Amino acid sequence: MRRDHRPYWLKHWQLRFRHWRARHFLLPQFDAVGSEPEIMDPGSVHVFGRKIRLGDYPHLISTPDNCIRLTTLGHRGKEAGITIGDYVLISPGVRISAEESITIGNACMIAANVYISDSDWHGLYNRARPFRCTRPVQLGDNVWIGDSAIICKGVSIGDNSVVGAGSVVTADVAANTVVAGNPAREIKKIEPRRRMITREVLFADAFRQAHNMDELDRMLLEGNSLRGWLRSLLFPRRGD
Ligand SMILES: CC(C)(COP(=O)(O)OP(=O)(O)OC[C@H]1O[C@@H](n2cnc3c(N)ncnc32)[C@H](O)[C@@H]1OP(=O)(O)O)[C@@H](O)C(=O)NCCC(=O)NCCS
Repeated sequence: MRRDHRPYWLKHWQLRFRHWRARHFLLPQFDAVGSEPEIMDPGSVHVFGRKIRLGDYPHLISTPDNCIRLTTLGHRGKEAGITIGDYVLISPGVRISAEESITIGNACMIAANVYISDSDWHGLYNRARPFRCTRPVQLGDNVWIGDSAIICKGVSIGDNSVVGAGSVVTADVAANTVVAGNPAREIKKIEPRRRMITREVLFADAFRQAHNMDELDRMLLEGNSLRGWLRSLLFPRRGD
């Protein structure tokens, strides 16, 4: 489909339904959720376990064929936790699994299919339990994890650092550092004195932004009708 054939009112009601679904079914599964969560498809965000917290303005993008999974599973009476800061982007296919503690700072961007875990989940000599193979993971503020990267147990990543696509991070990454490869190695530094624009700017005036998006929808979908939308679904034409 090259363009959206939905009438404005239909998209508007679909968005409202999506917000209601998120509020009613998904968000109660978290221990805490900040203001203005944006959840693209609430049905494809799978939350398992307690002590999972989301900050303000979280943006969770997932699809039914590429779910987001947030899991806490403490052993031997320990409670595991996942704490996610403000303005964080989580993309389709991301899995974050904590046996003890995973902390993600503000304005982090987690690209598609990233796996973050603080545990190997099986010991080298005890394959039945996560025995001596768990160490907390911590991401600073404004960290960007590239597509399909893996962040292993015990790793701390400093503020503003970037992990290249497909990398496997097994050791700490200092602040303002770009790492890549398997195992990930430093490939360059980020100049800390240069002005950094983070995701936070996107939400500087959230009300105005929502209003602008609504106006944009109104403009782009102008002239669309229910009949035209149904026709595009049932009898698609070249160029639809
Ligand atoms: C990490 C990244 C940002 C670096 O980009 P860059 O600054 O333009 O880096 P360069 O292309 O100058 O690469 C520098 C060196 O690192 C290597 N490198 C870069 N990315 C790499 C990666 N993902 N894995 C392995 N090596 C990598 C390059 O081959 C190059 O090596 P060389 O000096 O031996 O030739 C980028 O490569 C990347 O992986 N981006 C992820 C994008 C993404 O996942 N986006 C999802 C949207 S949220």
